[in-house]
Amino acid sequence: MPATATRLSAFTESVIRGTTRLATRHGAINLAQGFPDFDPPEELLTALERATRGPHHQYATTWGAPRFREALARKISRFSGLAIDPDQHLVVTCGSTEAMMVAMMTACNPGDKVVVFSPFYENYAADAILSGAEPIYVALRPPDFSFDREELAKAFEQKPKAIVVCNPSNPTGKVFTREELLYILQLAEEHDAFIITDEPYEHIVFEPHQHVHTAALPGAFERTIVCNSLSKTYSITGWRLGYVQASARVIAEARKVHDFLTVGAAAPLQEAAVAGLEMPDSYYLGLRDHYAAKKDVFLSYLRQLGLPFTEPQGSYFVMMDISSLGFADDSEASEWLIKEIGVAGVAGSSFFREPVNHLIRFHFAKSEATLRAAGEKLLAIRKR
Ligand SMILES: Cc1ncc(COP(=O)(O)O)c(C=O)c1O
Repeated sequence: MPATATRLSAFTESVIRGTTRLATRHGAINLAQGFPDFDPPEELLTALERATRGPHHQYATTWGAPRFREALARKISRFSGLAIDPDQHLVVTCGSTEAMMVAMMTACNPGDKVVVFSPFYENYAADAILSGAEPIYVALRPPDFSFDREELAKAFEQKPKAIVVCNPSNPTGKVFTREELLYILQLAEEHDAFIITDEPYEHIVFEPHQHVHTAALPGAFERTIVCNSLSKTYSITGWRLGYVQASARVIAEARKVHDFLTVGAAAPLQEAAVAGLEMPDSYYLGLRDHYAAKKDVFLSYLRQLGLPFTEPQGSYFVMMDISSLGFADDSEASEWLIKEIGVAGVAGSSFFREPVNHLIRFHFAKSEATLRAAGEKLLAIRKR
């Protein structure tokens, strides 16, 4: 029989999605894969019903339905201050997942290097390898997950074609400061590299931290390829809507990659999601407060439990240190949590390049009732 492609042996199936399957099999509360158990805003549901009766059942324009792109450009400009042209600066994709693949394939030639911070969202290494690039890793160091400037400068000496910046970061909950982003930009300029940002949690940032749009930093627009998503902002992870935002020169190339990967995102969902993009500023403040309250509920249980954990500055992830529990590794701990405690979290090693296997990542994008039920179950860990 013919062998399958060797590049596929360089990474495994997603540990996050695998943990979800195990959680479902054992009826555990799923705090592994980040998606809500509550509905999107009513405005989106109404718009979705309306969209099903409209003329939106055939392919939309490959790089995004015009009405969606126009609303998207207005929304991005409102928050970043950038002048976004819907016809030149955007490609609508099937989630940030596709956007990242498109960005990587648009930026990199086979053999190019890409800087990835570790820990990292697990898709990035796979995206790099699938596009023929080689990831090189720079550590984000606890407790605040800052990076060592010299280490990053050394990584840039290897002449990478791009650096990936997940901001706010999954899994660390880190929000990059303006100074950190300016330093990354300075290195990218010195070494003529792209900055590929992944920003699906831009509206889930806890005070006093603030989201800084890398593309809006002075001189950054031309070399920044923004990947983003509506999944988390409007609680619609199943709608699979995201986008690439970049300069006209980059977008002209990115459109080709997207066209041959997927042709386009679902037309009726683009139509319905316009209602989300047109939400007033108060919606986004409400979203932040909604998640801040969830964070407080969930972290209060972790405090009672008494195991150390990371305090997120943004996103909805927290990593709990299980080293005192005596497991051989985090995979064993994750399986035990699912089967014996009834709560699923992701083995932290799947996010790290370094041999780190004492962390479990939970997310708190769940209703208060679900979080309290999960919290009560987690307290039973004390009996171990
Ligand atoms: C950092 C990051 N990027 C991308 C994604 C995927 O988002 P999408 O649903 O837009 O494909 C996720 C989902 O958890 C994420 O955490």
